[in-house]
Amino acid sequence: MEVIISETAEASSSAAARVVARQVRENPESVLGLATGSTPLKLYRELIRLHREEDLDFSRVTTFNLDEYVGLENDHPQSYHAFMHENLFRHINIPAPQIHIPDGMTPDIPMFCEGYERRIADAGGIDLQVLGIGSDGHIGFNEPTSSFASRTRIKTLAQPTVEDNARFFDGEVSRVPRHCITMGIGTIMSARRVVMLAFGEGKAAAVAAAVEGPVAALMPASILQHHPDAKFFADEAAASQLKLGDYYRWVYAGKPEWQRDA
Ligand code: PGA
Repeated sequence: MEVIISETAEASSSAAARVVARQVRENPESVLGLATGSTPLKLYRELIRLHREEDLDFSRVTTFNLDEYVGLENDHPQSYHAFMHENLFRHINIPAPQIHIPDGMTPDIPMFCEGYERRIADAGGIDLQVLGIGSDGHIGFNEPTSSFASRTRIKTLAQPTVEDNARFFDGEVSRVPRHCITMGIGTIMSARRVVMLAFGEGKAAAVAAAVEGPVAALMPASILQHHPDAKFFADEAAASQLKLGDYYRWVYAGKPEWQRDA
């Protein structure tokens, strides 16, 4: 994993957006894996700016979102369909048929999940996956002990996740859906590149465990240590518990200019 520490979440997000933009410019038919939550918001804002001001073209891009709550209609304000539309899709020029988000209202979840995997494969696989990390180390909604080989399926949300996400449901834990459809860890690991983001002190312990701890199913994000092309963008607060923070900064500062993102 390449660890890139920036002063602020804004700087981190701009650097990550440059990686995504480069991917899309190099291959206008890129397949992007996208994430929801508060973490990627600044990255999406920067992609929107690049689209408006620097002609970043999404017209041939295909997207697959990581996850969706089970039981929320697509137009429910807290659905990830609504989130993506509001925070990215309606501001860029991606045609609706090229957008894929798990359907939390599907009557046949196993069949839907199989079909989702097939659609990813038919699109040629994911070129670049954007990821956040949960305070419990989850990626997508793959909670601790999720199989590293898992593919898209239904999962039960862990308690810390339900509590973290209650802030989007007027602080009411009882209103947070208990189940979701999520790409598996195996699905995520099949992406050719991964851009992971973590901001704020609340993520510091998970970041340290994921980057420097043992690779373990109890810390799903730690599997990224085995990914051949994973960049981890963290702000100072999220990086604050890394033992080797200075080492990552030194390595990054020593890279040739053309290899730098931040
Ligand atoms: P957050 O969630 O961006 O809202 O902190 C991250 C995640 O759960 O993956």
